Amino acid sequence: MSSKCSSGSCGSKSETCGSAKKASVAQQETAIQSSLSKIKNKILVMSGKGGVGKSTVSTNLALGLANRGYKVGLMDVDLHGPDICRMLNLTENLRQTNSKGLVPPMAYSDNLKVISLEYMMENRDDPIIWRGPLKIQAIRQFISDIDWGVLDYLVIDSPPGTGDEPLTISSTIKDAQAVVVTTPQEVALADVRKSINFCKHVKMKIVGVVENMSGLVCPHCREVIDVFKSGGGERTAKEFGLKFLGRIPIDPQVVMGGDSGQPYLSSDADSPAVKAFEEVVTNVEKAMAGKITLAPVDAGCGCGGVCNPDTCDC
Ligand SMILES: Nc1ncnc2c1ncn2[C@@H]1O[C@H](COP(=O)(O)OP(=O)(O)OP(=O)(O)O)[C@@H](O)[C@H]1O
Ligand SMILES: [Mg+2]
Ligand SMILES: [Zn+2]
Repeated sequence: MSSKCSSGSCGSKSETCGSAKKASVAQQETAIQSSLSKIKNKILVMSGKGGVGKSTVSTNLALGLANRGYKVGLMDVDLHGPDICRMLNLTENLRQTNSKGLVPPMAYSDNLKVISLEYMMENRDDPIIWRGPLKIQAIRQFISDIDWGVLDYLVIDSPPGTGDEPLTISSTIKDAQAVVVTTPQEVALADVRKSINFCKHVKMKIVGVVENMSGLVCPHCREVIDVFKSGGGERTAKEFGLKFLGRIPIDPQVVMGGDSGQPYLSSDADSPAVKAFEEVVTNVEKAMAGKITLAPVDAGCGCGGVCNPDTCDC
């Protein structure tokens, strides 16, 4: 059969048109795998329910790891409600592609690079209507077109639930591991079970469970008050044979930090919540492989980190 391309615009035979598309998908897949091969640990922060603190945990986890000397990337794939730029007070707009033809991510610090859809948009207030395939494409470009370089950790903040975004991550980044965030309430715990089952279904390893908003830091004496019964996250983790990564109390300063663009761990507040975040960072660090053991690609062959296997040997 040699029918014309159904779009009517390219005029070529549909087989030729289809093969051009296949070639471009294959080219992107190669770029994705090249980018991912330089990133040692990939963490998808997810939850069954909205508003439980994924973006807060992602931001502070990324920052905590960066503070410990790791090279960290933070990627916001919540395309409907990207929060990471606000939490880190990043207002940069997209820069030109660099000499490798890739987009440099925003640099929050020497050790922390950030990418969010807001950065990729010309006008941050423009509404975007997302359809599944567009979302999948945007997320793939976050990996293929961004110059992440060599990273010890890539932390990925996702929207709640088990929709296109976590599904795209699981199929694109085969060795991503999940950190599941929950709150102590029963309804959130029912949702966390769905996240855990999703991970089982797509064969994504789970680093462990974080129980956020667990107790309240008293603004007067800084003691933690147990408002709702806490410990449900830990019980759920046990029930599924998963690691419990820590319990973070509600601290009004966490809200202030998020809203004012100063992430919590970069403030020097001496609070039980800071200690709790640090404990989560330590537990994630212990559970995962730590520093990258690849040879520093930038140093050796001058390929600038984007290796062409035909021309360089790093
Ligand atoms: N431990 C905490 N103490 C106080 N406030 C917190 C804490 N964790 C999160 N918050 C606040 O709760 C709100 C929701 O948190 P966050 O945006 O991180 O949740 P989310 O799970 O990413 O939400 P969404 O599902 O909408 O993406 C934010 O205003 C945040 O500052
Ligand atoms: Mg969020
Ligand atoms: Zn008190």
